[in-house]
Amino acid sequence: VEAALMDGPLKGKHIVVTSGPTHEPIDPVRYIANRSSGAQGTAIARALAALGAQVTFVTGPASVAPPEGVKVVKVETAQQMLQAVQRGLPADAAIFAAAVADWRVENASDSKMKKTKGGTPDLSFAENPDILATVSGMTKGRPSLVVGFAAETDDVIAHATAKRQRKGCDWIVANDVSPETGIMGGAENSVTVIRTDGTEEWPRMSKDQVAARLANAIAEALA
Ligand code: CTP
Ligand code: CA
Repeated sequence: VEAALMDGPLKGKHIVVTSGPTHEPIDPVRYIANRSSGAQGTAIARALAALGAQVTFVTGPASVAPPEGVKVVKVETAQQMLQAVQRGLPADAAIFAAAVADWRVENASDSKMKKTKGGTPDLSFAENPDILATVSGMTKGRPSLVVGFAAETDDVIAHATAKRQRKGCDWIVANDVSPETGIMGGAENSVTVIRTDGTEEWPRMSKDQVAARLANAIAEALA
């Protein structure tokens, strides 16, 4: 579907959004995944498009459908997601809402692993590329606004503040994903936005409302 040419404050701006989990194969039938539904990233892409942005939506295997009116690029692994993001650039902004697997199975098998072999599989892991850090660190053609997410437990703000500095992004949207919050996989989110110019704690609201408010802030920053 051709991206809808919506009028709005983000008209003429190109924004790359990552969303969803990644799947890292173990063998042809098995993979390592995480609990991300892709709901928050999808809502952000939809909200940006509604403000007139041209959105490239790079999504792992999410459980919610991608929004209308955006360019959808489906990927499975972290390595594929990095490649798709790099192909999607240049962009005015890049929003990294995906729950990228930190590790992939280095010795994934081309054939199905069988019990008849005896014992348990001897998996070894390699670290995946950090897409957010890679794009934040670009010396040429870096999007002028790079936004990361930090799903944390325990000392959420401290972890997220350190993460923003480590990764070199402009904003980080921190949320508490402790099981008792019900945020992972739920319809609501409670976020704190950490920027170079200060920290803003937003009340708990629907993921759609978080997306709309974030899209407005992005429009303001890019104006
Ligand atoms: N991210 C990414 N590529 C990765 C890992 C993370 O682009 N390989 C992005 C996520 O999309 C998110 C941000 O980095 O915007 C933070 O992800 P998170 O998993 O919280 O950070 P990590 O550096 O992986 O740290 P942790 O050990 O806490 O998982
Ligand atoms: Ca991680």
